[in-house]
Amino acid sequence: MSRFHDEATRVLRALDPELAHRATIAGLSAGFGPNVQADRWPRLAMRLAGLALPNPLGLAAGFDKNAEAPDAMLGAGFGFVEVGTITPRPQAGNPKPRLFRLPEDRAIINRMGFNNGGLDAGVARLYRRRARGGIVGVNVGANKDTADRVGDYVEGLRRVWSVASYVTINISSPNTPGLRGLQERGALEDLLGRIGAAKVGLVAAYGSKPVFLKVAPDLDDVAIADIAELVIAHGVDGLIVSNTTIARPDTLTSAARAEAGGLSGAPLFQPSTEVLRRFHAALAGRVPLIGVGGVASGADALAKIRAGASAVQLYTALVYEGPGLIERILSDLSARLAAEGFANLDEAIGA
Ligand code: FNR
Repeated sequence: MSRFHDEATRVLRALDPELAHRATIAGLSAGFGPNVQADRWPRLAMRLAGLALPNPLGLAAGFDKNAEAPDAMLGAGFGFVEVGTITPRPQAGNPKPRLFRLPEDRAIINRMGFNNGGLDAGVARLYRRRARGGIVGVNVGANKDTADRVGDYVEGLRRVWSVASYVTINISSPNTPGLRGLQERGALEDLLGRIGAAKVGLVAAYGSKPVFLKVAPDLDDVAIADIAELVIAHGVDGLIVSNTTIARPDTLTSAARAEAGGLSGAPLFQPSTEVLRRFHAALAGRVPLIGVGGVASGADALAKIRAGASAVQLYTALVYEGPGLIERILSDLSARLAAEGFANLDEAIGA
């Protein structure tokens, strides 16, 4: 079966990237994905902001924007899956082409612009699978043409609450003009204040669940200190570090390197891990971190954990390696923890 997945991945990489993506989602939801027991590695079980994860490897947002295949991805071995970004109303996103492979750099540039089917469709799909278990988080965002950006996040939070294991407030996409401005002190204070107020009502009515904030890697030390302070003050349950970068490292060699959009994959590993390390220092263990950006191996996952992550996510490496990568990372991570004398994952966090 794994030869089948390697071959399928090779064929898909020869297609137009968006077509390949649609075919992948269709194939996975039709049951053609690998079948890996997510809890096969006892050393990797852990708790994240009250969630019991069978392992710390998650699917990052953007792969399954419309919640079409969360169960197939959980079945492929991921310890948790984040669907979205979902905006209140459906939107088409930016004109194509808007998704570019950088194969020589093991990277992707995307300027999708939150193309998605909206909350009605996403919530309906999640409602149908609600009894199936597994940790499925929902990443919410704002429509490009909204009159009340913060209101869009509050609406997303309310609508997905009963069908999500956790909710991620995504203020770090580079492809919706002005969105990342919500990371600035004043705007973030307003956003987190309104999210916090809405959360109180939701917790009272439907029970508690964690709310995470997802940030960009393009932050200086002042911004990191401000965000860390506000995250603690407003009781945010976890920080996802990071989204794609607008930077273009000099090392890029692929033809598409000058395309506009967010860069992900191998060239994002080092900068996103550095920002993660800074947040870990600023937060001093008070808020758990989820490390994302360029993870493609067990060694990469362990490096994120050592930099302070309690869990990790990936997307771009899946495009190059196929879904067999999930099992390889988990086996390798478990072996590395054992070899380095860690009885469990918690001992390795920030070590
Ligand atoms: C993304 N990412 C993303 N993030 C998010 O919060 N909402 C989204 O809708 C998307 N969409 C999206 C589309 C595409 C094509 C890519 C490649 C990425 C960002 C993603 O979740 C992750 O943060 C970065 O890609 C870094 O991780 P990797 O890809 O280097 O493992």
